[in-house]
Amino acid sequence: MTDDPLMEKVEQSMGSGVNDQAVIREVRVARRPQGTVRPEDFVLAEAAPLPQLSDGQVRVALRRLGMNAGMADGMRERTNSGRPGMALGAVPRSDAVLEVLESRSDAFAPGDLAVRSWSPWREMDVVDADELRRVPAERADLPLESHLTVLGHVGFTAWVGMVRVGEVRETDTVYVSGAAGGVGSCAVQFAAAHGARVIASAGSPQKVALLQELGADAAVDYHDGPTVELLRAMAPDGIDLFFDNVGGDQLEAALDTLRLRGRAVLCGAVSQYGREGTGPRNYLRMIYQELTLYGFTVTEHEDLRPAFEREAIRLVRDGRLISIHTVLNGFDRIPEAFSALQTGGNRGRMIVAA
Ligand SMILES: NC(=O)c1ccc[n+]([C@@H]2O[C@H](COP(=O)([O-])OP(=O)(O)OC[C@H]3O[C@@H](n4cnc5c(N)ncnc54)[C@H](OP(=O)(O)O)[C@@H]3O)[C@@H](O)[C@H]2O)c1
Repeated sequence: MTDDPLMEKVEQSMGSGVNDQAVIREVRVARRPQGTVRPEDFVLAEAAPLPQLSDGQVRVALRRLGMNAGMADGMRERTNSGRPGMALGAVPRSDAVLEVLESRSDAFAPGDLAVRSWSPWREMDVVDADELRRVPAERADLPLESHLTVLGHVGFTAWVGMVRVGEVRETDTVYVSGAAGGVGSCAVQFAAAHGARVIASAGSPQKVALLQELGADAAVDYHDGPTVELLRAMAPDGIDLFFDNVGGDQLEAALDTLRLRGRAVLCGAVSQYGREGTGPRNYLRMIYQELTLYGFTVTEHEDLRPAFEREAIRLVRDGRLISIHTVLNGFDRIPEAFSALQTGGNRGRMIVAA
């Protein structure tokens, strides 16, 4: 037990069939967010004791945990997708780099590193080995964070959206919203690597400077004026492809700016999470400009992962794809890290080092 005021007191039984190990902490959903998610919407609690390993299982320790902006919607009672949200008391999950501590699987030995796509926000866990993707030995020189960014979930999301769904071309002018975040920073780099002209927006001058370093031909702080005016100044002849992480005003401005037969890839809508999302006021532009809007969900495209990894690792080794991340140190900072996503507190992917 702990004196930490956030730490819920949980009775721990240490009966037979469990490891006699130190307290393992987890983060739970404590209450429904009122608008923006706050650290107090989570509670740090003592996890139930882990079971003994069965054949094919490994015991893992959390090393790095990725934060996903979209989970803010999943914390509502009913999500924008129409599905019920997470139960109160549930332990959220996201992608993580784990270290194998103990193994009853031929696939892993203690000390191996692995990525798990839906890892509970818990310091230690017992997991079936087939849920893990090994970090190959030849990538051991890369920072652990890169397995959650350029080579991981957000990189894969950006690549599926930009390269496969959006079919980015050399002749395209591409606009990326929410461009200095986890997905956005990868989307900008993939579009640039494919030879497109890239324009982008984010929420501060420092993030604008970062976007230019990442290869954006022009970038703006969306606080500096109406988005449609900022966009027209960067692309007087219009845009061909819009990669949207934000929705709302950003989507409306892009619809006003897309050229004839332009395409929009709807990756996310961070401005709409925590509220009833509304459609764009100017959707009739889709008719007059013969526009196509493509929504996608990355988990439906797992078959593309080998093609993504081949391209991403080549670009990383060539220095053309850089991991942009903000790291908070300490498992107990997960609530703080997650809520910072809502207020632009991250540069690139928000990651907690446990
Ligand atoms: N389709 C899929 O399968 C899939 C998979 C993963 C993620 N996603 C989506 O991709 C998007 C990006 O995810 P991420 O994890 O990379 O998040 P992120 O971009 O790292 O973090 C969110 C960022 O959004 C910006 N933001 C927050 N509220 C905003 C607002 N009202 N208007 C404009 N910008 C705002 C903030 O940056 P600023 O300082 O720039 O405002 C913040 O840092 C999310 O919408 C997420 O749900 C989709």
